[in-house]
Amino acid sequence: MVNMKRHRILIIDDEQNILESLEMFLCERGYEVACASSGLEGIEKNKAFIPDVIILDVRLPDIDGLELLKQLRENNHDKNIIIITAFHDMDTTIKAIKLGACEYIPKPIDIEELETAICRVLKSCTYTEKRTSSPSDISVSYEKGKIIGKSGVMKEIFKSIGMLSENRITVLIEGETGTGKELIARAIHYHSPYKNYPFLAINCSAIVGTLLESELFGHEKGAFTNAIFTKKGKFEIAGEGTIFLDEVSEIPFELQAKLLRFLQEKEFERVGGIKTLKSNARVIAATNKNLWKMVEQGIFREDLYYRLSVANIKVPALRERKSDIPLLTEYLLKKINCELHKNIVRVEERGMKRIMEYDWPGNIRELENILTRAAINTQGDVILDDTISSMLNAKEAISRSIDEGDEILNLHELERRHILHILNRTHWHLGKACSLLGLSRPTLRKKLKIYNLSTGMVK
Ligand SMILES: Nc1ncnc2c1ncn2[C@@H]1O[C@H](COP(=O)(O)OP(=O)(O)OP(=O)(O)O)[C@@H](O)[C@H]1O
Ligand SMILES: [Mg+2]
Repeated sequence: MVNMKRHRILIIDDEQNILESLEMFLCERGYEVACASSGLEGIEKNKAFIPDVIILDVRLPDIDGLELLKQLRENNHDKNIIIITAFHDMDTTIKAIKLGACEYIPKPIDIEELETAICRVLKSCTYTEKRTSSPSDISVSYEKGKIIGKSGVMKEIFKSIGMLSENRITVLIEGETGTGKELIARAIHYHSPYKNYPFLAINCSAIVGTLLESELFGHEKGAFTNAIFTKKGKFEIAGEGTIFLDEVSEIPFELQAKLLRFLQEKEFERVGGIKTLKSNARVIAATNKNLWKMVEQGIFREDLYYRLSVANIKVPALRERKSDIPLLTEYLLKKINCELHKNIVRVEERGMKRIMEYDWPGNIRELENILTRAAINTQGDVILDDTISSMLNAKEAISRSIDEGDEILNLHELERRHILHILNRTHWHLGKACSLLGLSRPTLRKKLKIYNLSTGMVK
């Protein structure tokens, strides 16, 4: 592709070989190129050269790249900046997007990806799905709450998080179980200026009827049996913070009207109360059901659906972004090492292949469970092929054999199997398992102990 109009590109990177190869490549493509190997030089060249696009490495010897990005944006608001970095994780992307970067390219640089990004930036700052590189020489460190992903869809999600953390609009996060919906909701909150206010999560399926209403909006003393004291609800406690309504599809129909009113007017009354209260809490909701289908079936209010999905994030299933599995595995192993005081470095090659082939119906939570169990069963520092294969084979077998067999079981064995079955179905989501089993968390924990059940067991 040769550009008739000579666009100017400034590259700021301290690695000489990157500067040289990018300069050569871009000159060949007909761009006019200037290079800077430090932040200060970058600022100078920006003024003198007046580039159309800046390619900026966020790791520079003299100035933090994100700080430089801020300065470049402050001095010249219509700059189109492409960030390059080895830290292709959520934090850098979100910060870069918030500071006004248009594009984000992980190192090692895929030259075609960079070129596509340049074309797009030159055309406009709007993003379309892009090809992703598949670098393997990458390394991630464990950090609580980090969202891992370098596939195109995940980069899009990072961008959305960056943008949504700048405002307070209501967000609906949709995705299968274990895809990271709560993680995303937390990221929006903790990257926002309101991060010091509470983030309060509430699982709408785990609490029934009036109790859910009271949990959300509070109650007055004597409002119902057991309402001995006046209690503030989550909306009152949150202040300027965020209320995360998990499994929002499970909100009873009558309560949907009250939530709608809150979203419209920011007003509500405690259960049994007459005084109208106000709250500025932001709402982020999540669902693993098809909420629109529920609207069509008449079991979820259409007006509430629209109020909730002012902004919408669709989280892909893990099988739709398998290119992220190696990085996720590496990250999860680090997380597991911290938790179990282990030193697992990798999964053997065939085991990794098996992981790549498996369908992951329980998504990242299921991957984490399998790796945890594998780590527990591993003596050395490498998880063996057989460990992974036998676990995944057993999982597949159990999903085939569910409901099969007509053995006579005693009640204890029946209970044990049923609890295990539900735990496997919910991919060991204890909250969900409790609500499906109709048990409280302490009771479930007691039963896990009695039946000697632990995370990830399949038999
Ligand atoms: N992209 C990711 N990077 C790292 N860890 C992740 C990612 N996505 C999910 N996880 C981890 O997977 C587990 C499940 O994530 P989370 O609870 O956010 O999923 P969810 O979509 O809310 O699931 P559910 O619908 O079952 O409530 C958590 O331990 C979370 O830390
Ligand atoms: Mg969740």
